[in-house]
Amino acid sequence: MNNNIVHSIGLGPGDPELVTIKAKRILETSDDVIVPQSDALGRSVAKDIIVHYVDSSRLIMYYFPMNNNKEQLRQRYTELAEKIKALVADGRKVSYVSMGDPTIFSTSNYLTETLLARGINVVHVPGISSINASSSLLGIPLTSKGGDFGVYELPEDVQRTVELIQRHQTTVFMKVNKKLPVLLEAIKSEPPDAAYLVNRVTLDGQQSFDLLNELLPKEPLYLSIALVKKKKLKGTK
Ligand SMILES: C[S@@+](CC[C@H](N)C(=O)[O-])C[C@H]1O[C@@H](n2cnc3c(N)ncnc32)[C@H](O)[C@@H]1O
Repeated sequence: MNNNIVHSIGLGPGDPELVTIKAKRILETSDDVIVPQSDALGRSVAKDIIVHYVDSSRLIMYYFPMNNNKEQLRQRYTELAEKIKALVADGRKVSYVSMGDPTIFSTSNYLTETLLARGINVVHVPGISSINASSSLLGIPLTSKGGDFGVYELPEDVQRTVELIQRHQTTVFMKVNKKLPVLLEAIKSEPPDAAYLVNRVTLDGQQSFDLLNELLPKEPLYLSIALVKKKKLKGTK
């Protein structure tokens, strides 16, 4: 058996029923499950999902500071990769989890590079992204025949946001949080056909806002994603 591998598992957007059967099976048979945590107080949405499937004695919480200090983050990834390498060398079956899908804006992407550089192979287990969960909640297509969709981290800049909205049939903006005013300004200057904000999709307290027609959230909402439909030109579908 090749034990020189780690599974990187997507946990889906929050609802424990949206963890795949494959992810559940691998989690249940892992010796150690590493759970990223960005909150110094120990709160972690990933942990809230995973406790449904893994005994807490097998969880290893791992803190990643929520700042843009690249050197500090690089050091945390390096330390984690070394820790995983030692566990794998001891013959332990190790999994690393992340929210949604592990290939989309995920700590898993950086960890994978760091592990590969140390000769550890990473097997990804796809998860349902918050992108899919949000379009399903709203009941609107991400894209349809002849169309397209683009996914971006919401820019800091209004003009760039307007440009991105013009590029696709549907534009998805992730990491909205405190930058919501940028999006609101962009849709005010060039009104699209539709614009929605979804907060905590499939989790307790889930909310959605029609940004063109409703009272808007007064405070920045942690874990929020936006879907914007560009204005259709006359004669196009
Ligand atoms: C670090 S990225 C992780 C994305 C994740 N890999 C995915 O596929 O959904 C975090 C961003 O994903 C979005 N997100 C993740 N989970 C969410 C949820 N339950 N509700 C709304 N947005 C969510 C938000 O835009 C958040 O700022």
